[in-house]
Amino acid sequence: MHIKTNLSKKIITWYDNNKRSLPWRVSFNSSRKLYYRLLSEFMLQQTQVKTVIPYFEKFTKEIKTLKKLSTTSERKILKLWEGLGYYRRARNLLITAKIIVNKKKSVLPKTLIDIKKLPGVGDYTGNVLLALVYNQPRFALDGNVKRVLSRIINKHERKLDFEKMVKKNKKQLFYSKRNSDLVEAMMEFGALICKPKEPKCEICPINKTCKFHKSGKYVKLTDTIKSNKKSYNIFCYLNKKKQIGLTNKNNLGFLKEYNLPIIKEKLKKNKFKSWNFLCNYRNSISNKKLDIDLYYKFSNKIPKNLNWYSMHDNKEFIPTFTKKIFEQVENLY
Ligand code: ADE
Repeated sequence: MHIKTNLSKKIITWYDNNKRSLPWRVSFNSSRKLYYRLLSEFMLQQTQVKTVIPYFEKFTKEIKTLKKLSTTSERKILKLWEGLGYYRRARNLLITAKIIVNKKKSVLPKTLIDIKKLPGVGDYTGNVLLALVYNQPRFALDGNVKRVLSRIINKHERKLDFEKMVKKNKKQLFYSKRNSDLVEAMMEFGALICKPKEPKCEICPINKTCKFHKSGKYVKLTDTIKSNKKSYNIFCYLNKKKQIGLTNKNNLGFLKEYNLPIIKEKLKKNKFKSWNFLCNYRNSISNKKLDIDLYYKFSNKIPKNLNWYSMHDNKEFIPTFTKKIFEQVENLY
């Protein structure tokens, strides 16, 4: 478990010469820094940098400060978040902004215990924020960083106790003058050099001491994600006024508002006699593979838990996937 190179220094030097210029990395005064870091870290949870950039830019153009964010309506925030997915992050961000502004005098908590009390902040985001905002010596173990560490000693991630590894290699893994940069440098290095597939070992600044590179016998580091296939039936109630029946009560965790009625398990097609089969969708959301059969029927009546919604009224927040279905259904008129 011993790391034989001064990893932090080498990674920081690499970072200084190779880092991407990202809109949340520019240096700002402390209140803007807190706002930009909070927003970007929430957006970056489960989402890649290149996807986040345009959302971050649109969001900060519209909402310029943390104080402004704390008084913005949830609906407006969801609208700005539309298409980025995992909408719980947007709701948590709003609550967190309100707590920081109204209860903490616009100051981010300074300990991991306190910062984790904010909704949407767990170990990982907590450590990153404490390093980025306060330059605290923190090590944030995301997927990229775990891969870098496990490659250095060529040991499968599953067999590694990362916390222990970090404690044992403090000298090699921390760089007290620049804790904030080091946290980002490790993530950046994992994303650009020590990539999951086809790592760029030829140009890697630590290849001389990397067991993964030296051995030539590359250990398979992560398990391939098991296909996590889910089947659903989705039902569209339609009326002659081009309205569609939407609900905010379905059990698909990733879509909570303005959704179509959904039955989880796929049943045989002829089970839904009063429904017309429209099409089948295959889609992936994170590691979930979705297999969806879409049904429709024209009706004047609608079950109690649904509301009619005009497909042309685009003012409200609608999940991207529901919008895609609107496009399909429009062909029926
Ligand atoms: N992933 C999570 N936070 C990040 C950051 N600040 N920079 C790059 N990738 C990240």
